[in-house]
Amino acid sequence: MAPNNDVDHDKLTTAGQQHKRRSWAEPYKIKMVEPIRMTTREQRQRALEEAGYNTFLIRSEDVYIDLLTDSGTSAMSDWQWAGMMLGDEAYAGSKNYYNLEATVAKHYGYKHLIPTHQGRGAEHILSQITTKGGDVVPGNMYFTTTRYHQEHAGAKFIDIIMPEAHDPTFIHPFKGNVDLDKLESVLKEYGTARIPYVSMAATVNMAGGQPVSMENMRQVRELCNRHGVPVMLDATRAVENAYFIQQREPGYSDKSVSEILLEFCRLTDGGTMSGKKDPLVNIGGWLSLNDDALAEKARNMVVVYEGLHTYGGMSGRDMEAMARGIEESVQDDHMRARVGQVEYLGELLMEWGIPIVQPIGGHAVYLDARRFYPDMPQECFPAQTLAAELYLDSGVRSMERGIVSAGRDVVTGENHQPKLELVRLTIPRRVYTQAHMDVTAESVLSVFTQSQKPKGLEMVYEPEYLRFFQARFRPLETA
Ligand code: F0G
Repeated sequence: MAPNNDVDHDKLTTAGQQHKRRSWAEPYKIKMVEPIRMTTREQRQRALEEAGYNTFLIRSEDVYIDLLTDSGTSAMSDWQWAGMMLGDEAYAGSKNYYNLEATVAKHYGYKHLIPTHQGRGAEHILSQITTKGGDVVPGNMYFTTTRYHQEHAGAKFIDIIMPEAHDPTFIHPFKGNVDLDKLESVLKEYGTARIPYVSMAATVNMAGGQPVSMENMRQVRELCNRHGVPVMLDATRAVENAYFIQQREPGYSDKSVSEILLEFCRLTDGGTMSGKKDPLVNIGGWLSLNDDALAEKARNMVVVYEGLHTYGGMSGRDMEAMARGIEESVQDDHMRARVGQVEYLGELLMEWGIPIVQPIGGHAVYLDARRFYPDMPQECFPAQTLAAELYLDSGVRSMERGIVSAGRDVVTGENHQPKLELVRLTIPRRVYTQAHMDVTAESVLSVFTQSQKPKGLEMVYEPEYLRFFQARFRPLETA
């Protein structure tokens, strides 16, 4: 057909495409707002110096968009706030405890619930009741507090994640999966006598929020059954993991997130939880166990460190808000919007050629600091430097997840040298809008294309434990 010169075909095509476009939006509207403040570059420079170039030490008031963590930073719903008014603040036997216990049993399937003040409280108790000096704990990559408590109880952590998880460019739908051959050889070498449990995290935070497949978890379970070793789940972001299974694993697209979560947790013997993530609350956690005798031990220990076994460091209203938060977190449309927002930011950055960990994770986008500063040695803390530069550029606060977070070997005292040298842009749940994501992406682009690159940082103060929280730095002189 001859072209009709009166009609602009390009425009028509675009309009046609626009017509077909169907967006989804968040399944909520905003009822209350909290003002945030933009600062000047001079103010941020001063704040950064006062904070020793550590984003953990910056005052929140000096932050514009806070992507430090998704931990305890979620927005609660009106239904959760209403639940806060129904707090039963009895010292013992609060009705909110029983509601939380029933909710965890319903969605995670665990028999016994021991509440704690947050995730690390549960990790502490689990490690103390299961682990002795000389043990080893295999896990799919470490998490800072989890490994600390395992080591504190006398164990050595052994990484059994698929080796490609340490490569930020490697694409795999389930990059949190266990290398089953490695697990089997560890099980054979140390046996039940020295392995208190296999420590599974889903999703895997330090790998970039990467999920574990149902199939892999089933195989881990079978291997562990054969060797008589229990499997404990870090269930902190297990609902996000269930969403990825629904989206990516054959045979699961017709199942709800809630059904998948239950099926997944049934492959494990218990779990630790930081309620500050998936469960949509600002504080709280729990340890869940199916074994009666072990639960008895945990109940006995929780009174020493956390509080009575029916509150474990949480108030009645906190427990009610968490029970309601769990109900909301397992809704498919909630999860689509939650992970969808993270993907929106990640896809924008990828479109602009910015190096991030792929695939995009569930709770955060991870910038690959090595590729921002290819000439900077790891000893000059590229990720810590990048987090500082990003704050300086726009007041966006992020977190280092590289050599500073990895800490030192407990035996040799040498720095761990992780392959992954990352900056995490962590998205709080139900807090920021698409416009906040745009502003963040534009700031990352401006730091990525900076003509004068920083030289890096030197550490001037190093705390003994979990150093990334409180370490202080000073910039290396620019040439
Ligand atoms: N496990 C995972 C996978 C976590 O991400 C965290 C906390 C914990 C356990 C510990 O829980 O903070 O309640 O004591 N992660 C936060 C973060 C701190 O920023 O990723 P907690």
